[in-house]
Amino acid sequence: MSARLVVLVSGAGTNLQALLDACADPAYGAKVVAVGADRPAIEGLARARRAGLPTFVAQVTDHPERSGWDAALTEAVAEHEPDLVVLAGFMKILGARFLDRFGDRTVNTHPALLPAFPGAHAVREALAYGVRVTGCTVHFVDGGVDTGPVIAQRAVPVLDGDDEETLHMRIKEVENPLFVETVGRLAREGWTLSDRRVRIGR
Ligand code: GAR
Repeated sequence: MSARLVVLVSGAGTNLQALLDACADPAYGAKVVAVGADRPAIEGLARARRAGLPTFVAQVTDHPERSGWDAALTEAVAEHEPDLVVLAGFMKILGARFLDRFGDRTVNTHPALLPAFPGAHAVREALAYGVRVTGCTVHFVDGGVDTGPVIAQRAVPVLDGDDEETLHMRIKEVENPLFVETVGRLAREGWTLSDRRVRIGR
């Protein structure tokens, strides 16, 4: 049986697209059942609609308190009964209610080698720091900003002349397949977590 994935996006959705392409093969062991976003009119949502998937938008600005947004997002995701919630370029910090409900099975992908350069501007900050190697990290989400247990990482060299756009593009070339491979393995094989160590397999 395929694991049910709800994917949350905020932007271009290249990681989502890579996942959708992988899910076309039943052997992948997972299927995207819905895609949600924190803003309308983004390419990530358009990709989901083109794939014939249900979509939803939960905007922070539609709620007087952030806790209202947290509750609305939690409900919208819960409706689709996910086995895994997958953040694919989702640029909001999840609330307490969401983490209470899905914190044991929410996975994020981040464009740096955590714990270096957490937050929303990881690629820009890695460049500004002058590191020669950066990369991407797939990790479980906890209550902090990109502080949850690491599942998988891959390195990407910083080249002379890189700017934020070229470096992020080269990171995504490595990130897209790592993300797909990692989500697929979690879905097919399960995992155990102990002292921040994630072991894939039952
Ligand atoms: C990805 O590189 C992802 O790691 C990053 O946003 C990009 C989304 O690309 N996420 C973060 O920076 C989260 N802090 P995509 O929309 O093309 O998949």
